[in-house]
Amino acid sequence: MRAWAEGDPPSDYAVVWKPSQRFLDSQPALRAMFNAGAGVDALACLRLPKNVPVIRLEDAGMAEQMCEYVLHAVLHHYREFDIYAAQEAKRLWAPRPPRRKADYPVGILGYGVLGQAVAKSPISVGFQVVAWARTPRADAPIRVYSGDDSRVEFLQAVRILVCLLPLTPSTRHVLNATAFEALRRGGYLINVARGAHLDRDALLAALDSGQLAGATLDVFDQEPIPAADPIWKDTRIRVTPHISAATLRHEAVEQIVGKLRALERGEAVTGVVATDRGY
Ligand SMILES: NC(=O)c1ccc[n+]([C@@H]2O[C@H](COP(=O)([O-])OP(=O)(O)OC[C@H]3O[C@@H](n4cnc5c(N)ncnc54)[C@H](OP(=O)(O)O)[C@@H]3O)[C@@H](O)[C@H]2O)c1
Repeated sequence: MRAWAEGDPPSDYAVVWKPSQRFLDSQPALRAMFNAGAGVDALACLRLPKNVPVIRLEDAGMAEQMCEYVLHAVLHHYREFDIYAAQEAKRLWAPRPPRRKADYPVGILGYGVLGQAVAKSPISVGFQVVAWARTPRADAPIRVYSGDDSRVEFLQAVRILVCLLPLTPSTRHVLNATAFEALRRGGYLINVARGAHLDRDALLAALDSGQLAGATLDVFDQEPIPAADPIWKDTRIRVTPHISAATLRHEAVEQIVGKLRALERGEAVTGVVATDRGY
């Protein structure tokens, strides 16, 4: 195994993260390509080698991190910790009336490897959780709405919305004015998928109108966010630098090596990306 350098002989397998077209064009003998992350949207604009399976990471230690991040964001909003932090800064002792979890149903856009794991943590502390996927899930332990026809019905059932979709042509700007309008008033957005899922102007308009109470954003169109971006100072939006679920070296290598060995034995592996649907 080696780090690729221009002029190297062709490899049998490649591990990539946002590879260059130059690298892909230099690989006529690949048997498979492993993507060192869960999302493969960075590959969409590239000419991929024909008939070479692209295999993405499945969980590999990301699900636990995502659960921590999302549960923290849900509880931070629900228990009004932002308001208590502001009160603390003013030395103000002012308990607020308790909220009811029944008034804060959580909805997860995307019920894949990460969405299914993340759904469990709010349930464990008493929230109602529903999800939305492309295909029906009759066997799921929670209600899963499926397909574009049921998206509005799903959103109407939700106050705290978590985005865990892959970025594809059909999910770009899925977090838009129509979606925010459908949520229960005073909704809350947690975007841990990709920046391009969000129509930022629609978010700001929904915050201004009170339709949304706030947002926690981990992903952005432009990363890092420029220092002059007003989002840094918007107290309604909590910003983190794309850290909700990092690729963990040990777990990722273990998963890739396991799948590589299976392929060498002629066995099928999971996590093969359907490049036509984009995830
Ligand atoms: N911020 C971070 O640090 C970070 C880290 C890791 C991953 N991510 C993001 O999380 C995403 C999800 O990862 P994953 O491993 O859970 O992916 P996954 O297992 O492929 O799950 C994707 C889910 O989205 C659903 N979906 C896809 N297109 C849809 C559409 N048009 N309408 C409705 N549902 C749709 C799928 O429906 P079906 O079940 O019907 O196929 C599936 O439930 C990644 O693509 C990546 O963008 C972010």
